[in-house]
Amino acid sequence: MTCRRGALIVLEGVDKAGKTTQCNKLVQALQDSGRQTEMMKFPERTTKIGQLINSYLENKSNLEDHTVHLLFSANRWELVPLMKEKLEQGINLVVDRYAFSGVAFTSAKPGFSLDWCMNPDMGLPKPDLVMFLQLSPTEAAQRGQFGTERYETTVFQKAVQQKFELLMKDPSVKWQVIDAARNIEDVHADIKNHSVDAINAAENEPIGELWK
Ligand code: TMP
Repeated sequence: MTCRRGALIVLEGVDKAGKTTQCNKLVQALQDSGRQTEMMKFPERTTKIGQLINSYLENKSNLEDHTVHLLFSANRWELVPLMKEKLEQGINLVVDRYAFSGVAFTSAKPGFSLDWCMNPDMGLPKPDLVMFLQLSPTEAAQRGQFGTERYETTVFQKAVQQKFELLMKDPSVKWQVIDAARNIEDVHADIKNHSVDAINAAENEPIGELWK
C-alpha cells in the first residue's frame, strides 16, 4: 500500500494573534488523534542563515532590506528537502509563518512591490491550508506591549496587516481567516476542524508548487 502524504498546514497572522500557542495546540491535538504531525517555524533560527536572520531581528546587526528578504527566503528553501521528505512519509507539518510573512513584512517597507517579494518563494511546497489569525490592531494592543525585536511596532504591524489582506485575495492559495479575538479553546477548535478537512483532502493529491 502506498503511504498517504502528510498535509502542509500554515498559520499566519500579525504579532500577538496567538500563532505559536495555536500551532502547539494543533500539533498536540493531531498527535493525540493518532495523526503523525510535527511543527516547524520560520524563520528557523538554528541554521547558519537563520543565525544571520536572528541577529538582524534582535537588532544586533543591520542588513540591507533586499538582502534580508532573500535570506528569509533562502531559510525556507534550505528546509524544503526535509519538508518534502516528511510530507512524503505521511507526516503532517504545522508551520508557524511561511512565505506569506516573508512577502507581507518586506512589502510593508517602502519601495518593495508584492511581485518582487513573491518571486524568490515561487515554487516552494504549496500549503494545503493557510489559516490567517485575524486580530485588529486595537485587540492586539489590549494583549500587552509588543516585544523589542525589529518590526514590533504598531505602525509597522498595521502596514503588514494590509499586505496580508492583499495576499489573501489570491485564489490559488487556500486561505481560511480565523477570528483570533475569541478564547484560546474556541480558536483551537476552529483551527483543528479546518486542519482535519485539509489533511483528508491532501492525502491523495500531489504536493503543489506555491505561486506557480
Ligand atoms: P517570530 O520568530 O516571532 O515569528 O518572528 C519573526 C519575525 O520575522 C517577525 O517579525 C516576522 C518576520 N519575518 C519576516 O520579516 N520575513 C519572513 O520571511 C518571516 C518568516 C518572518
